[in-house]
Amino acid sequence: MGSTKTKTHDEQVTLLEQVIAKYQGQGRKALMQVLQEAQAIYGYLPLDVQRTVADGLGVSVAEVYGVITFYSFFSLNPKGAFEVSVCLGTACYVKGSQAILEKIEEELHIKAGECTPDGKFSINACRCIGACGLAPVIMVNEDVYGRLTPDQIPAILAKYKEA
Ligand code: FES
Repeated sequence: MGSTKTKTHDEQVTLLEQVIAKYQGQGRKALMQVLQEAQAIYGYLPLDVQRTVADGLGVSVAEVYGVITFYSFFSLNPKGAFEVSVCLGTACYVKGSQAILEKIEEELHIKAGECTPDGKFSINACRCIGACGLAPVIMVNEDVYGRLTPDQIPAILAKYKEA
């Protein structure tokens, strides 16, 4: 999985074709498995990959999309080396998480759901991460930061920019 970024697009296409060939004829029974392997190849599951998987297994794109959005370990968006998750759950929202998100977008020059061109950061707007007592909360990979104000954001991100 760690070598995802070193694969060329052609290599990724070939690997995905091999995965689909391995499960040929199994239809939707193999969908979860194929999607997991596809995500290991690409790092996330963009629309063209969803279409290839759907065609390969003979299921609809809507079904593939439904599975991806149901399980949180599947991602529709590219992930950076540091994924900044901003909780927009109710407790965080009422304590100003929208302003936190906007500050992060401004600092990284990307929007939620996007990845910086160098692959270092992505922003993920998420639901409650179970730390409501610390609202508003963000996570950078596994690191949790709570009771935030927007002016704390640059210093937090700077740590990872230098990493
Ligand atoms: S609402 Fe943000 S941690 Fe629960």
